[in-house]
Amino acid sequence: MTDTSKQDRVIIFDTTLRDGEQSPGATMTHDEKLEIASLLDEMGVDVIEAGFPIASDGDFEAVREIAKRSVNSAICGLARASIGDIDRSWDAVKHAAQPRIHTFIGTSPLHRAIPNLDMDEMAGLIHDTVTHARNLCDNIQWSPMDATRTEHDYLCRVVEIAIKAGATTINIPDTVGYTAPAESADLIAMLLERVPGAGDVIFSTHCHNDLGMATANSLAAVNAGARQIECTINGLGERAGNTALEEVVMALKVRNDIMPYRTSIDTTKIMNLSRLVSTVSGFAVQYNKAIVGKNAFAHESGIHQDGMLKNAETFEIMRPEDVGLSETNLVMGKHSGRAALRAKLNDLGHELADNQLKDVFVRFKALADRKKEIFDEDLLALMRDSTSDAVHDHIQLKRLAVVCGTEGPQTADMTLSIDGVEHEVSTTGDGPVDAAFNAVKALVPHQARLQLYQVHAVTEGTDAQATVSVRMEEDGKISTGQSADTDTVVASAKAYINALNKLLVRRQKTKPA
Ligand code: KIV
Ligand code: ZN
Repeated sequence: MTDTSKQDRVIIFDTTLRDGEQSPGATMTHDEKLEIASLLDEMGVDVIEAGFPIASDGDFEAVREIAKRSVNSAICGLARASIGDIDRSWDAVKHAAQPRIHTFIGTSPLHRAIPNLDMDEMAGLIHDTVTHARNLCDNIQWSPMDATRTEHDYLCRVVEIAIKAGATTINIPDTVGYTAPAESADLIAMLLERVPGAGDVIFSTHCHNDLGMATANSLAAVNAGARQIECTINGLGERAGNTALEEVVMALKVRNDIMPYRTSIDTTKIMNLSRLVSTVSGFAVQYNKAIVGKNAFAHESGIHQDGMLKNAETFEIMRPEDVGLSETNLVMGKHSGRAALRAKLNDLGHELADNQLKDVFVRFKALADRKKEIFDEDLLALMRDSTSDAVHDHIQLKRLAVVCGTEGPQTADMTLSIDGVEHEVSTTGDGPVDAAFNAVKALVPHQARLQLYQVHAVTEGTDAQATVSVRMEEDGKISTGQSADTDTVVASAKAYINALNKLLVRRQKTKPA
């Protein structure tokens, strides 16, 4: 019998596209999911949970496409304990070189009460569904949801049933972020000791962060024998989020002396993924967040700066380059040429075709005319803006002038091109952004409800670009838009129009032929 807990390799299972996307407001488009998946694959993530295929046709299509394009990572689709869910998940992931089905059911008393199943009925359902999944695919993950609040005897019983039915990975979720490090370790140790066949499968940990202990709980589980960590970029996830990929991976790297486990992650890709997920989800990374926060490598106090200049190790336990932050962040200016821009964008993970570079270069020059110093973050914001296929958009912003200040009313004069025809309007609002949004509404009447409006400064300084995220909802369909500009009102109007364009595309797709 192999005892998997003795091996020092920890499998990194990323669920940014499933559990992360489930966090209210973090809905991502098809293309955004593909972009994130491709970077996760390049980064060396072992398993990508690409979505919940039964949840919607959009989820199914994204998982299927990610599976088709996967190179190194195994691709996993989530399924409840139902034959329909499992079949749908298999139909989406079967295109991957390494497909995985992940099926789950809530096993704690509170969760058993929802489908109103007694212990024996639930045990039977687990046996039948895992057996069905294993007949489709030889890589099966099973999760007893709310495991940390499930009676130990029952947990051992159902884990044994899942292993006997063919599960190859047993994931132990702390669904409500309730456990603590010592308890998390004890639970894994208890299962490894008591469940027959436990040494033949991989035990996994999946922790939520409701008490701020997700990363500590995951690492404690690994110390006790778990060999898979489920996590998300930036800790994105329901409520307070999940274990953050960057935290566990860097903790294992920096404290390898006390946690002697390896992962396959190329940590230099961390910053790019963190920025991408933040932009796409509209969830800003807090400044003091471990590893990826803006201040994680900033040293402000005199004593710290002095120490840093003499020896960086005085106040730094890892180097900025280890997570993909370039040492000197100031990169480009008005006189930088096309070759330098191409090289810099390559460094930031964007390989551009010649015509794409031409377009980005025009935007770069326009930005450099308005802003003296162009930082990595500015270029990334520019890239995100230029991937929004503006030339094919139904609605394009041609002109915007606003009047704002202490004396109202604030007004917006706007010209939009709608399917190639220019329309003008003048509106008022409660502030210039509201006036600009009212102008869009006047020119493109719609019922979509604005659910979120967020502004972030990309860099420091009053000439910083603002990135604006907008989320709107129409008949249950969510659409998000982003844009960046040194003018916050222009960025806001463009983000709103971007979301509206996506909504129009979505409407057409769902119209019967
Ligand atoms: O938190 C949880 O329990 C989950 C399961 C679906 C694994 O996300
Ligand atoms: Zn979860």
